[in-house]
Amino acid sequence: MPDLRVSIVILIGLVLLLGACSGRDAEVTDPGQEQTSDGTAFHPSFSFSKTEFEELTSTLPQEYRASILAHPAAFLDQLVRLKTQPEELTWLVDKEHPLAADYAPEDLVDMDDHTDRLDLSRTGHRLRGIVLPDLLAMVDAARTEGVTLLISSAYRSYSYQEQLYGRWVEQLGQKEADRVSAKPGSSQHQLGTAIDFGCICDEFAKTEAGRWIASNAWKYGFSLSYPDGYESLTGYAYESWHFRYIGKVAARMEREFFAGIQQHLTEFVDGNADAFWSFLIEI
Ligand code: DAL
Ligand code: ZN
Repeated sequence: MPDLRVSIVILIGLVLLLGACSGRDAEVTDPGQEQTSDGTAFHPSFSFSKTEFEELTSTLPQEYRASILAHPAAFLDQLVRLKTQPEELTWLVDKEHPLAADYAPEDLVDMDDHTDRLDLSRTGHRLRGIVLPDLLAMVDAARTEGVTLLISSAYRSYSYQEQLYGRWVEQLGQKEADRVSAKPGSSQHQLGTAIDFGCICDEFAKTEAGRWIASNAWKYGFSLSYPDGYESLTGYAYESWHFRYIGKVAARMEREFFAGIQQHLTEFVDGNADAFWSFLIEI
C-alpha cells in the first residue's frame, strides 16, 4: 500500500507540473521573466515589474481588464507588434475626437483601377492604398465562397461629409441624424480606411455578405465600428455595413482582449497605450 500512495503522490505532482507548463501565457513567458525578488523583468520587451504592470492595468475599464490580466504575456506580445502599425489605423475618431477639417490621407488610391477584383456601387470611390492588399484578399476569399462584397462608400472628404450630414439633418432632424451620420470631422470615412458594404441598410446584417463579413472581417484587419447594442459607447446606432480597417494586429487584439469592440481598443490606444509603451525596451 505505501507503494500505491507514493505512486499517487508522484502522479498528482506530474499533473500539477504539466498544468503549470501548459496554457497560452506559458508559451510566451519565460517563467524566469515573472517578477523577480528585486521586482524587475515581467516581460522581455518591457522594463516594468509585475506590480507596475498591475498598476498600469488597474484603471482600465472592467469590460476588458480581466481579459488582459488573464493572459498578460500574450497581450504584451501583441502590444509590441501594434507599435509597428501606422498609428492612424487605430486613432480614436468619434464625436469627442474629430479629425482636423484639412486632414486627408496621402496615399488615396482610385478603386476604379481595380474593377477586375472589386465590386463597386459607382465610379469614383477612393481608399487609402495601405488598405488595398487586405481588402483584395478579403473580397477574393469571399468570392471563392460564392459571396460578393459590394463596396458602397469609402473615403469621404470633410466637405463631402458636411453635405451628407446636412442632408440627414434635413431628412430626420438633428437628433436622429446624429445617431446615423457623423458631423464633418467626426467620420471615420475621412480617414480613408472605413468602408460601407452592400445596401447600407439594416437588412445587410441578414444577407449572405453581411453574415460572411461579420465572421471573417477580422482575419483581414477589418473591424465593425458600430456594433448592435453599443450606441451609448460609440455614439451611433448599429451599422452592420460599416467596417474600418485597423490592421491585422489590432483586429486580433480587439477580438482577444477588447471584447470584440473597436471603441474599447481605440480608447485604450488613445488613453493608455503610451503608458505601457513608455516601458518598452529598445532592442
Ligand atoms: N454613418 C457613420 C457614423 C458616418 O457618417 O461616418
Ligand atoms: Zn460608413
